[in-house]
Amino acid sequence: MFANFMAWIDKRLPLTDAMNKHAAQYPAPKNFNFWYVFGILASVVLVNQLLTGIWLTMNYEPSGDGAFASIEYIMRDVDYGWLLRYMHSTGASAFFVVVYLHMFRGMMYGSYQKPRELLWIFGMLIFLVLMAEAFMGYLLPWGNMSYWGAQVIISLFGAIPVIGEDLTIWIKGDYVISGATLNRFFALHVIALPLVLVVLVFLHILALHEVGSNNPEGTDIKKPKGSVKPEDQSKFKFHEQYTKKYDIVDAIPFHPYYTVKDLVAVVVFLILFCWVMFFAPEGGGYFIEAPNFEPANGLKTPEHIAPVWYFGPFYTILRVVPDKLFGMIAMFAAIFMLFMLPWFDRGTVKSIKYRCTAHTLNLLQFAVCFIVLGILGTMPASETANLIGRIASLGYFGFFIALWFYSNNEKTKPVPERVSG
Ligand code: HEM
Repeated sequence: MFANFMAWIDKRLPLTDAMNKHAAQYPAPKNFNFWYVFGILASVVLVNQLLTGIWLTMNYEPSGDGAFASIEYIMRDVDYGWLLRYMHSTGASAFFVVVYLHMFRGMMYGSYQKPRELLWIFGMLIFLVLMAEAFMGYLLPWGNMSYWGAQVIISLFGAIPVIGEDLTIWIKGDYVISGATLNRFFALHVIALPLVLVVLVFLHILALHEVGSNNPEGTDIKKPKGSVKPEDQSKFKFHEQYTKKYDIVDAIPFHPYYTVKDLVAVVVFLILFCWVMFFAPEGGGYFIEAPNFEPANGLKTPEHIAPVWYFGPFYTILRVVPDKLFGMIAMFAAIFMLFMLPWFDRGTVKSIKYRCTAHTLNLLQFAVCFIVLGILGTMPASETANLIGRIASLGYFGFFIALWFYSNNEKTKPVPERVSG
């Protein structure tokens, strides 16, 4: 009966074909390691955010008078409302943990290099929208940190010459952050940005499947048609889209091999996620900050205004530059550098395994600087913190500049013709 039903559907919509092309018969390199689970985990978190977000919206009230109280109502009176809220708030932090690791994997294995530049650009657009989504979502509980965090970030735009002041009023929809600001952030957070995010993820996967996955060796699993002896070709059946032009070698079908492997990762991830959600949902004050247990109050500035941890690295770069306008330029430049990574790297060898030692050290110092910047972002500003922040910012930008120089004439190790392991 099921087969008949599917045949009926397939005559009208190529569902089975699309599933085979993009999941079951997708040729995935056989050597994927731990670092390759984060794309799927990001997808799991995305679904979690969309579903819990819809259910939270059912009881949330987007108004200056009602927002804080409606969150209290969700936490205390709505059946399992506390669970929905903690799934959503923990999910926000989990999203960034997973996405940062996913991006770092791309940097280690050169997954942004030709021909995957557009895939990387889609990833970076996702990252940008994700940051906007998180920023707007953080205002919705209308707690005191929601209010003051938004106040600090929106007021930055005031530093832009000529249009700055008008721009901040346009963003807020009022002279101060008010119910009008909350309303528009709500509209953007629950519908506009999630739509954009879902479309971008869709394009991200389409672009990935067009060029194929990279892998920890950085060796291509596609060889020109006829260049590989039949006995050396993969024994598996892949979708025609991938075999029409190329011989596929050293690949395995995504299903069942990687569905099973990813399932293990999802289960482990969910165990960790549940642990945080049930035992430490505030994340020690890093996931939900203490001032957010008080309602927004324009007359009571929290002692130390800090963004949520995942904005830390970019916030520190902003803060260590003495001038507000230049600080903002530096912060946006830090994100722009990541966008341009495929063009900063002029090398042809992808994986860190076969690149020069300078590259390994450079990437390592970048990771250390990024973490240091992140930690500083959650701490109050001080002379010492500013000094360390400036050094780490130099390390951050230095990564891209050094890469541009040494990657042009890099002494690399020989890359194996075929994927091993
Ligand atoms: C909602 C966020 C995201 C989702 C759901 C997502 C999903 C995925 C999935 C399912 C894959 C294939 C499996 C894997 O290789 O892990 C993938 C690959 C990839 N993603 Fe993402 N991604 C997201 C964000 C990003 C971001 C922010 C970047 C970087 C700027 C990025 C860059 C890449 C790259 C370069 C690959 C190919 C990796 C390779 O083949 O070696 N993604 N993504």
